[in-house]
Formats: sequence, structure tokens, C-alpha cells
Amino acid sequence: MNTIAIIRNSATKSSRRVLIGSSTTSSSLASPHPKCHRTLLTTANHFRIGSAKNFLYLPFSSLFHFRINSWQLGLVIKPDEDFSSIARVAYSLSVRNFSTSVENRVNNTNFERIYVQGGVNLKPHVVERVDEEEKSVPTIEKNSEGFVSVSVVEKARVEDSEAEREAWRLLKGAVVSYCGNPVGTVAANDPGDKTPLNYDQVFIRDFVPSALAFLLGGESEIVKNFLLHTLQLQSWEKTVDCYSPGQGLMPASFKVRTVALDGDNLEEVLDPDFGESAIGRVAPVDSGLWWIILLRAYGKLTGDYSLQERVDVQTGLKMILNLCLTDGFDMFPSLLVTDGSCMIDRRMGIHGHPLEIQALFYSALRCSREMLAANEGSSNLIRAINNRLSALSFHIREYYWVDMKKINEIYRYKTEEYSMDATNKFNIYPEQIPLWLMDWIPEEGGYLIGNLQPAHMDFRFFTLGNLWSIVSSLGTPRQNEAILNLIEAKWDDLGSHMPLKICYPALDNEEWRIITGSDPKNTPWSYHNGGSWPTLLWQFTLACIKMGRIELAKKAVALAEKRLPIDLWPEYYDTRTGKFIGKQSRLYQTWTISGFLTSKMLLKKPEMASMLFWEEDYELLEICVCALNKSGRRKCSRGAARSQILV
Ligand code: GLC
Repeated sequence: MNTIAIIRNSATKSSRRVLIGSSTTSSSLASPHPKCHRTLLTTANHFRIGSAKNFLYLPFSSLFHFRINSWQLGLVIKPDEDFSSIARVAYSLSVRNFSTSVENRVNNTNFERIYVQGGVNLKPHVVERVDEEEKSVPTIEKNSEGFVSVSVVEKARVEDSEAEREAWRLLKGAVVSYCGNPVGTVAANDPGDKTPLNYDQVFIRDFVPSALAFLLGGESEIVKNFLLHTLQLQSWEKTVDCYSPGQGLMPASFKVRTVALDGDNLEEVLDPDFGESAIGRVAPVDSGLWWIILLRAYGKLTGDYSLQERVDVQTGLKMILNLCLTDGFDMFPSLLVTDGSCMIDRRMGIHGHPLEIQALFYSALRCSREMLAANEGSSNLIRAINNRLSALSFHIREYYWVDMKKINEIYRYKTEEYSMDATNKFNIYPEQIPLWLMDWIPEEGGYLIGNLQPAHMDFRFFTLGNLWSIVSSLGTPRQNEAILNLIEAKWDDLGSHMPLKICYPALDNEEWRIITGSDPKNTPWSYHNGGSWPTLLWQFTLACIKMGRIELAKKAVALAEKRLPIDLWPEYYDTRTGKFIGKQSRLYQTWTISGFLTSKMLLKKPEMASMLFWEEDYELLEICVCALNKSGRRKCSRGAARSQILV
């Protein structure tokens, strides 16, 4: 085992598993709030040591003279002992041997991470590095990559437009605190909304544009807190009825609740939702991927790489990766998921291998490749990441891409081919090509389809997946260019009165009935079914800056700037052209506000954008060509990679 987790299980009868911040206990070194320490509540009165699936149960009293002999450290933990000193020992013993398997941690004698959560006299919930290095975390001004200093940002704010100033005010008003520290932003802050459902929670995916706005604005504390607190929630015991979802899963959202514990003491608790309360019980597959993407962005934009180097952060990162890379029955390198496992978190016929998940998966793998500490223990995982990246980009570039030429090929496909050399590998019946597509596809341009399964191509255009393919270079440079050409050529359909449509076209009639299950929220051209989502602006801006199409982004942002403040920052717009505020749209939706701010800041400082996107990686292409070559299909060389893998 590479982890020692010491988790206090309180004697409370509460069955809630929540992270608690007490306002009555003494201060702790690791806690950012002086009067706050955190406790993990479960039902039994004993400690657990080990990874969540392999706990070693010890009587409560054993804490007081607990000798970790099995790890041969001779480390004695006493009730009055300052855990920071243990952290120091732990960190100095840090072994560069990260395991690729969560399961085998218990048997491993390496001591790589101490992970302490609450307890009587137990101070930090996660032991922080408290060495000199930690104290000298580079400030924003120190960033060698040219990050603007706080004072410059403040000056820039003076030059902000009216809409930007309002957006900043609203974004700050949406901040959620835990134990006196900012940890995220609520999904929506609509004072008129009497039934906020879960919109009063901090959603992982929704927080990303808020985090970027804060980082670009020179405020990094909230992002660091968010990353560390959500990391805590990752190792939660979670159950949906009698089933426990996989280790490493990140919640869709969390809420800070105030609860009365004993006597008059009020405690703050972090209450995560892993999908067990979510409408439709959808799996938040994208949460972990966004968490990884944000972790990298934090390092890039602040210059503080010590966060990603921490042992607990490295372990959390590996847990997400292990969950994503676990073998299953899949025949494809793309990630197999259930319906509604991403931004579209309702039934919309996107189960299987939806593009959005693949693009986020690809980005998260690229981020991890940069952030994982390379050592003996991580070499297998890094190899697995490289192989998956190559296979995934080949798969998407080759099989998801459509343009005039490709549609014409599909139109003439032969079917029922049984052989290794089949042209129509997925047995797509040409009759599947929808009539709308024949008229819609422009001469110039193309896009990546929404989903690919045996005998099934979902030809709908999904904006987030296509934009994120550009940003991460999942598409080839030519494909990325062509996607923006298509968006420009089809502006009346995708941008129109409010950029941008979440997908195009909408499902209607029988298709709507069968595919959405007659969902009244997802009627044609509303919400996820062809609604327009201003939050997508920031991803569009980023993609445009990357591809040198800044004017296109400016046009979209200007359009949004005119309407959003007047319309009170809605979550989404309805109708074919995005004319009306969405039927059930929340107002003062935070990711609308922060998406707008992030777009504006990226446009003002386009050089910052380069820290948030990726260029083509020829090394990965080469791995891919080599792999194909082994199967006797293609020549193996860098040149072949450039010319043959669709560059
Ligand atoms: C809706 C969206 C989802 C978002 C949530 C909170 O459910 O579909 O993507 O995270 O609202 O804003």
C-alpha cells in the first residue's frame, strides 16, 4: 500500500457521510481556518487504515499508542502529538514509487502518503507539506510565464465594461465558504427561485469557468481550496442503494451544510452528491476529468506546481486515472459511459461513446502525462496513458470525422462486411444519414460526430465535444480548422441570437419521445435538446484564440454582452435561434457569468490562453503509427505519422 489513511469514525449515530468543519475546536496547522478542523462521520467507533476498499479496522484506543510496525517506520502517534511533525516524517519518507493500482496499496510496504482525516485531537484532515518549500509557494507575480500581477489586474478592472463589473460582483456573490474559506461557487444564485433543487450546490463542471475567471483575475486561493476539498470527497464511501460506485469517482456536486452536532455546537459539513441524489441518478463521469484539467490550469496560471506534486494530489490523480483506464468489455479506446454522464446530465441518447466525454478524457490524459511524477512506480501508468492517447486520437480522427467527402463515402458504403479489411467497420447502414445533414453540411468545413457505436453514428453536432477537441488537439490541425469553418458557415444555426447551441439539430416528434423518454424539459430547441448555452462562450473563445480566429470569438462575446445583463444571466436560451430565455432556465447562473468573464479576459490577454490549450503532439502520433505498423497496416516513421494520421 502506498497510502496510510487514518480516518476517525465518530461515535455518532449519524448515517450521513459528510466532511465536517467544527467551529468549536482548536486550530490546526493544515486547516486554512483557525477555528476549524474536520471530521469524517460514519457509524462505527474505530479507525480504519488503508485504502477505502481495504480498511484495517482498529479499536479507537489504539490511536493513542499506535505503532505502524507493519510499515516499519516506528512512528508513534500520540493524542497530543502535532501531526505536522508526522507529516514531515511522512513526506521525507516519500517514495517515488507510485502504484498503478489502487488495490495493491495495502500490501505495499512503501510509505508515500499520509492522509489523516480529523478525530479527537487529530488536527489536519489531510496532512499538508509544511516544509520550507511549501512556505515559498511562488506568488502570482513570480510567474515566469508572464502572469499579470494582482495590481495590474486591479487596474484592468477599472477599464472593465459595465457588464464585466456586474459579472464580477455577481461571481463574488456566488462564492461558497467552508470553515471561513472560499471553496467554490453555487450553480445559480437566483433570489427569485423558490425551488433551487440542487442549483444551490457547487458543481465540479460548473466551477471550472469560475476557477479560470478567478485565476486569470489573480485570485488563486479559492481554486486551491476547491481542488483540495473535492479531493477529500473523492475517497468517500459512496453508495447508490446497495451498490458502491468505483473508487476515484469525483462527485457531481457538493453542498456546505450547517448541522447541529452535540449540544449547541453547529458544525459545517461538506455533503457530496455522487449521483445518488441527482435527477436520474446519472454518473458524473466528467467531474474527475474536469478536476484533472483544472489542476493543470492552476499550475500553469499561478506557477504554483507544488500543489500537483503533493503526494495526496498525485494519489487522487492516479485514482481517477485507474478508474478510467480499467479494462472492461470495450472494443474501442473511447470511454464507455451511460446516458447523461456529462454536461448533458439527462437522457438525451448520448450513452455509449459520446464525443464530449472522449474529448475531456483525452485532455485529462494529456494533463496527467504532464503532471504525474515519473518514477518506477508510475511507469506502467504513464505507458498506459501514452498508448491510450494514441489509440484514442486515431479512433476519433478516423471514425468520428465527417465532411462532404466522408458523408458521400458513407452514402455509398457496402454493409455486412466480415473481414479485417472492412471499409465499413462499424456496419453503418447508409440509410442512417439524416436528411437534414445532406442539406446542412457546408462545402468547407466538417465536424466530429456525437457518438459512434456498432451500426450507429449519431450525426448530431455537439458543441462542447467539438470545441474541446480543438482545444486539446484531439482533432488534427486541419480538422480543428474545419470545425471552426463549419461553426462560422452555420452561424445562424449555432450562434444566431445567443451563442452557442449545445447541440444541433433538436430531436423532435417520435425521436424526442423515444430518445428523451418524453422529457418535458428537453422539448425541441430547449435546454439540452438544442438550447443555446452562453457558458460555452469561454470554450469557443479559447478554441478561436488557439486557431487564430479571434474575430469570430469577439463577435460571439459582443453578442452575449449585449443580452446577458439585460436578461439577468440566464442558464440557457430556447428556440431554433436562441431568441427566448429558456422556459425553465435559472437566472444568475454562475457559469454563464464566469464563462462570459473568462472569455473577456482571454480576449484581453490572448497570450494566457496558450496555457490552457495543447498543440499537436507528434510523439503520440508516432506511437500510434508504430502500433499500426505492428499490425502490418502502416509504415512507422515520423513522416508517416505526419502524413498518414490525418494531420
Ligand atoms: C444542469 C446542467 C448541468 C449543470 C447543472 C448545474 O443540470 O445540465 O450541466 O452542471 O445544471 O448548473
